[in-house]
Amino acid sequence: MIRFEQVSKRYPDGTMAVDELSFEVGEGELVTLVGPSGCGKTTTMMMVNRLIEPTAGRIFVNGENIADVDPVRLRRRIGYVIQQVGLFPHRTVLDNTATVPALIGWKKAKARARAAELLDLVGLDPKMYGSRYPEQLSGGQRQRVGVARALAADPPVLLMDEPFGAVDPVVREQLQDEFLRMQAAVRKTVLLVTHDIEEAVRLGDRIAVYGQGRIEQFDTPGAVLGTPATPYVAGFVGADRGLKRLSVTEILPDDLEQPTVVRLDESAAHAAARLREEDARWGVVLDADGDLHGWVGIDEVALAGEGGKVGDLAHRMRAWVPVGAPLKQAFGVMLQHDAGWVAVLDGARFLGVLTPAKLHEALRRSVDADAQGVARDQVEFDSVADA
Ligand SMILES: Nc1ncnc2c1ncn2[C@@H]1O[C@H](COP(=O)(O)OP(=O)(O)O)[C@@H](O)[C@H]1O
Ligand SMILES: [Mg+2]
Repeated sequence: MIRFEQVSKRYPDGTMAVDELSFEVGEGELVTLVGPSGCGKTTTMMMVNRLIEPTAGRIFVNGENIADVDPVRLRRRIGYVIQQVGLFPHRTVLDNTATVPALIGWKKAKARARAAELLDLVGLDPKMYGSRYPEQLSGGQRQRVGVARALAADPPVLLMDEPFGAVDPVVREQLQDEFLRMQAAVRKTVLLVTHDIEEAVRLGDRIAVYGQGRIEQFDTPGAVLGTPATPYVAGFVGADRGLKRLSVTEILPDDLEQPTVVRLDESAAHAAARLREEDARWGVVLDADGDLHGWVGIDEVALAGEGGKVGDLAHRMRAWVPVGAPLKQAFGVMLQHDAGWVAVLDGARFLGVLTPAKLHEALRRSVDADAQGVARDQVEFDSVADA
């Protein structure tokens, strides 16, 4: 959808802002451009909508060389969100959002209806906020209006330059989450600039890590964190990249351990015998449908005596995560409940448990899978301990 072919930009004072940049962004893909200040991210972005012209190379949007496209027409197909937001102070939120549709000649009623729909999409009730002025909004709300406005004419491409940079970390995470939810629905082709590696990893389908005017690595978040291409990238993503990687590595059914399972309606004596047989100190308790109920310790069932039922002894289990959740979430739940393992569920159905050892193994496996270019379940290694 967006293709850079050996694009360079030298400013009149001689600054080489980007140097022979080549990359491609697929349709519906969200690519984050990340790097320190001054490395050429904004320059890259502004060449896409021709606010800056390259000095060499070619840029294609949707197959068209943009040098041949009228800039005004080009910009109508490209939404643009910037940190300073740039809302018109004397126009209401609704009219700000309707700016582009109005510009391209939509009827007022249609433009406003569309604006209301988009405010809703970015989490602002149009009835409540539509008639306010920008100064009557919080920073986070203004950012949301900026995003709504950029989407108003339904452009296939969205450029976002540090869109969540001006808000505090908590609001920032909210905006990121909302944006991801929205992007899952609208599937725009997005280039998003940030200097924050956490944000880049969280949002990007792929990340371009910038050095000075060049891309040092262009890959998935997992690959960038797991196998940095150069020492520069390794330094940029940080010594805690293993931890960051926890947040981009999903829990797969293969990662799970299968503990002893006992049934809710089983007798305590029977459960105790089976736990002893399997040398287990506790068992996971499931109901008749295979849904997670909780867990029970061997001492509890062993001491219950004649007539005791697992159902009367079991503890409810709150340490659980859905399959497909990031490893980081499982780790967080483990810490929160001070649990030695967490149950992994598909809906309510119990799939298995994730232990710290299994969590480490899953992380190792995903790093190796990226390095070898194979799927995670194809990775073989003898022992996690000698890694
Ligand atoms: N209009 C300009 N004239 C001269 N140099 C510029 C201009 N705009 C940006 N630069 C320089 O180009 C380099 C890249 O800038 P920019 O693309 O804004 O980086 P980033 O967005 O990554 O912080 C920097 O060294 C910056 O000082
Ligand atoms: Mg910039």
